Amino acid sequence: MEPLLFLLFGASGDLAKKKLLPALYDLAQHQDARFGVIGIGRSDWDDDAFREHAIEALANAGIAKKKATAWAEETLFFAEVDAYDQLEPVFERAAALEDEHGYPGHRIAYLATPPSTFSGVITAVGEHEEAEEHEGWTRLVLEKPFGHDLESAQALNALIHRYFDETQVFRIDHYLGKETVQNLLVFRFGNALFEPLWNREHVERVDILVAESVGVEGRAGYYDQQGGAIRDMVQNHLTQLFTLAAMEPPATFDAEAIRHEKIKVLRSTAPVNLQRVRLGQYGPGDNGNEGYTAHEGVPPDSDTETYAAVELCVNNWRWQGVPFTLRTGKRLPERMTEITVQFRCPPVTLFRSAGPCSLSPNVLRIRLQPHEGFELGFEVKAPDNGFTVSTQHLSFSYDEVFGKLPDAYETLLRDVAEGDQTLFVHADEAEAAWALYGPLLDAQLPLDPYASGSWGPGASTPVAADSTPVA
Ligand code: NDP
Ligand code: BG6
Repeated sequence: MEPLLFLLFGASGDLAKKKLLPALYDLAQHQDARFGVIGIGRSDWDDDAFREHAIEALANAGIAKKKATAWAEETLFFAEVDAYDQLEPVFERAAALEDEHGYPGHRIAYLATPPSTFSGVITAVGEHEEAEEHEGWTRLVLEKPFGHDLESAQALNALIHRYFDETQVFRIDHYLGKETVQNLLVFRFGNALFEPLWNREHVERVDILVAESVGVEGRAGYYDQQGGAIRDMVQNHLTQLFTLAAMEPPATFDAEAIRHEKIKVLRSTAPVNLQRVRLGQYGPGDNGNEGYTAHEGVPPDSDTETYAAVELCVNNWRWQGVPFTLRTGKRLPERMTEITVQFRCPPVTLFRSAGPCSLSPNVLRIRLQPHEGFELGFEVKAPDNGFTVSTQHLSFSYDEVFGKLPDAYETLLRDVAEGDQTLFVHADEAEAAWALYGPLLDAQLPLDPYASGSWGPGASTPVAADSTPVA
């Protein structure tokens, strides 16, 4: 990668502390990495204060203080601004550091700030680019949420494109940086075994589950204002998993071809049928956890959903009639992300002695986190006198074979630095994803309570066989 400067907006924030600073440290360990980071914020900080903050963040990520200190002193700088649309101190500092360190003028403006600041930063960076051409390229990285509905996403895209070409824009969905999510493409298109079965002829249903055991502690006010699980999880992370599972093989393995296929899936998908949606909100649980409305910052009558199950139908030749269920919830019993593909039963049941409908369908479980891996269920004859059929599993665990996987943010930062947009969301993709959920965002749907620590609204969902993960 070429030498460059990161302009990290929102450097004092939660995301920077938990994810970005450790990922920048990890990125710096690559042999070819040479970069500086200007933290930007309204906090009354100088270089030393930012470095102290970063060393603490790195310690939380398990990085030894000596190594963290050496890196921070060499790499981290801070520019205080009065407001996020007044960035002169940032550009002056950037130019000075580029001179001093011999950086060629490549800059990555990373917006790790609340969405309310995006338009100010984009305009200020864009106008600076127009007014004062510096050498090297500038890229823009935008955290989620990208808008809060179709209209706001379109307005944001229009503003961005006033100053930046789409090739300069990197909309983050950190799920795309997860190794196992990327592996979905290899699994599907690198094996001749599964792709011929990956269609309506052979697949009965596909379930995508992102279960979280955490609630919204510490960010309840933001979560409630932002509007719940559909906007926070379904429109982005689950929809990305859905498009990767449903897309056609791309013509080539590059950003343009892959994003084109994902957008085609979104455009082939029918707008959400409100009859096939279930929303819920967690209440108190046996484990002593408080309910959602007891969090500070949440109104007692809040109707924000913390659980959502949505059925999508892809109207194309491959998938017509196969339901895709997207399901996510907070305060579920465990953290688990998986895609379950249920294949059709054999057309004829030969093994009568085992009972007329005794065969289980073959089920492929793609486990994305934690315990990343695959499990394929298949039927075998149990050794006895009759013909008892038993389901057994072939399985593969990433951990056992490859050890620890890199963090998603390290992968994504490196891709931005190298200009590879494959794992980022295209403008059209962001808009198509919002268009899909439009009817749902405007609707007043019933909200079912569920106990913290349960698998979601008790009466089970209309879209999945029941509300527990597929076994
Ligand atoms: P924070 O609320 O921690 O804000 C980050 C920084 O932005 C603050 O430290 C503050 O720095 C600055 N800021 C500017 N304007 C405001 C404002 N009006 N209210 C609060 N802070 C402001 O955000 P996060 O770090 O949690 O998230 C940053 C972005 O990343 C958001 O877009 C979020 O949606 C996204 N994101 C966050 C995740 C997370 O785990 N935290 C996960 C996925 C996405 P200063 O006061 O120095 O200016
Ligand atoms: C974020 C959501 O984008 O993703 C959070 O805003 C959620 O609500 C988080 O908890 C889940 O990410 P991960 O990587 O822990 O599955």
